Amino acid sequence: MSAGATSNARTVHGIDVAAVRAETPGCAEVIHFNNAGAALPPRAVTDAVHEYSAREALIGGYEAAEAAADEIEATRAALAALLGARPHQLALIENATRAWDMAFYGLPLASGDRILTCRSEYASNYLAYLQVRRRRGVRIEVIPDNEFGEIDTEAAARLLGPDVKLISITHVPTHGGLVNPAEAIGRLARSAGCYYLLDACQSVGQMPIDVALIGCDFLSSTGRKFLRGPRGTGFLYASERALSEIEPPFIDGHAATWTAVDSYELRRDARRFENWEFNCATRIGLGVAARYASALGLEAIWQRVQSLAARLRSRLAQIEGVRVCDLGRTQCGIVSFLCRDVHPEAVKTALARQRINVSVSDLAWTRIDMDARGIPALVRASVHYYNSEEEVDAFAAALAAVLRSPSLNEKLLPH
Ligand SMILES: Cc1ncc(COP(=O)(O)O)c(C=O)c1O
Repeated sequence: MSAGATSNARTVHGIDVAAVRAETPGCAEVIHFNNAGAALPPRAVTDAVHEYSAREALIGGYEAAEAAADEIEATRAALAALLGARPHQLALIENATRAWDMAFYGLPLASGDRILTCRSEYASNYLAYLQVRRRRGVRIEVIPDNEFGEIDTEAAARLLGPDVKLISITHVPTHGGLVNPAEAIGRLARSAGCYYLLDACQSVGQMPIDVALIGCDFLSSTGRKFLRGPRGTGFLYASERALSEIEPPFIDGHAATWTAVDSYELRRDARRFENWEFNCATRIGLGVAARYASALGLEAIWQRVQSLAARLRSRLAQIEGVRVCDLGRTQCGIVSFLCRDVHPEAVKTALARQRINVSVSDLAWTRIDMDARGIPALVRASVHYYNSEEEVDAFAAALAAVLRSPSLNEKLLPH
């Protein structure tokens, strides 16, 4: 693998771009700027998944799992290494939302307790707050943003009080380049003694993440986005405090042992948040993806992602009628923009015809922020380290041509 490469002509920001592209079959097919949806996986990931599935078909699912027990379990250690955690603090769950749910719905929240969240909170998380408000009478408070569009940590400090039981925020929102100040919020949560739940679905895999520096009790994420793992994979980190205090909202014979007819004992480690049944092939693939990212180095990945995204923002800013919408002082690989008079879906469709992948973020997924900014939908172009400068330039040229095209006229936004 190229990950060990140090410096040669093809190495940019410590990454051998030609090699990582050669290891990514999809690079020959599309310009993939939908890494915030699901990244193109490296061949090593898909090979591992296919090989394991083939073994299952040949010798039986349980038998294959027994034979590959170490390989399957190695995924936990790979993710722990990526996050600065210990393997027993990682639960492997089928997606980021369920991982988040296993933490959130296990928290001992009662009537009158306050939850502090952020303006760019993800829909599924906010829906859970609303449900728990309806069921248990908790209060939801949204921390204002500062002038840069990041969570205002001073405002957050002012909101703290003994009745704040949880700070729950999204690190990188689904719909833009913003990176929220997760470490500063961690310091506040520690000073207040409340629980801290971090949705790191869009940040893991594109930037260094250290749970000890962040100081969260829980961190949830997914495999398929910037980590480049298989779909249908996710995980939850739980701190020692969380492991000693928080019970999962529901359990099975893997999370707990039925010790006597009337009693059970929960596992002490993060596996208490898992299911017994899982997809072994994709779990192995997730481990391969985590090791692949670690071998390249998250610092190098982050440098390259930021540089490509900055190039894309600057190219977009030069196109007549395009407005880049990203917030925050530190900006990540997600680039959001609007095209004057053209609906984001029409932009996406026109680019797809040229084998260029982007996605559309609509208001229903980040309602508080998008309502406040008066934006019903955005184009989301998300780059990763394996994308190239040439792709960024080709993307900008294709977009400019699309916007000049008369065939877009029928897709004009209603005024
Ligand atoms: C910020 C954020 N949180 C959570 C999720 C949900 O992840 P999953 O689909 O793996 O449950 C997403 C998915 O796009 C996201 O962008």
